[in-house]
Amino acid sequence: MRRPLFVGNWKMNKTAAETQLFIENFKSYKNDNCDIAICAPFTALHVFDGNENFKLGAQNFYPAAKGAFTGEVSLEMLKEYGVSYILIGHSERREYFHEEDAFLQEKYRFAVQEKLTPILCVGETLELRQKGEALRFCGVQVKAILENIKVEGLPNEMIIAYEPIWAIGTGYHASSDDAQEMCAHLRQIVQNLCGDCETRILYGGSVNTDNVASYMSKEDIDGALIGGASLEAESFAALITEGCVTHA
Ligand code: PGA
Repeated sequence: MRRPLFVGNWKMNKTAAETQLFIENFKSYKNDNCDIAICAPFTALHVFDGNENFKLGAQNFYPAAKGAFTGEVSLEMLKEYGVSYILIGHSERREYFHEEDAFLQEKYRFAVQEKLTPILCVGETLELRQKGEALRFCGVQVKAILENIKVEGLPNEMIIAYEPIWAIGTGYHASSDDAQEMCAHLRQIVQNLCGDCETRILYGGSVNTDNVASYMSKEDIDGALIGGASLEAESFAALITEGCVTHA
């Protein structure tokens, strides 16, 4: 059985002091039945000491070892803080920072080469969903990044996050049936590309304590990528507990 994975994406939230407070409140939470990660802002990474009950992730990096890239951060710098997961292709990076497929593929290759675990995010707009093109579109997004990467270049652990754009931070969320249909479709695509690699597929988009169970009861949904609802320690813990119990 695939082990459930819950990943908090803090986006541009929490100072170092606020992060400290979160850790204080979250450190007593233990759940042996799932994996937990938090993608924190760069400026808060130093607050985590590696003894936490969850893994550390980052939200961005630049795909080069070092050099004249003013304002950018390398993976080597992130690894120094114990970062092991890295978000790639989040719709906010695609939309606001114009990260396109070729660049995202470069990031993906780089992350794998540096032995970090990429969380590849895909998702459709509301318009595409309404036109019935969501499955095709997200399938193309996955292939655009993974297709030309040789099997030996793929990570041991593949993680895909399906996040419909219209559900991110809006309070609207995909029905669990639609999310299941998409995650099964994406799993098939990944399997065709890499054979039997271990793949976990997450749903993201306004996941909260009330709706997490409906997603986790589905066969192909292995966890969640959680923005707003990961910011408070107690409710994040409650969400994980709820999701773990109902994992299909
Ligand atoms: P949300 O964000 O849970 O606040 O909708 C999810 C995400 O962007 O990863």
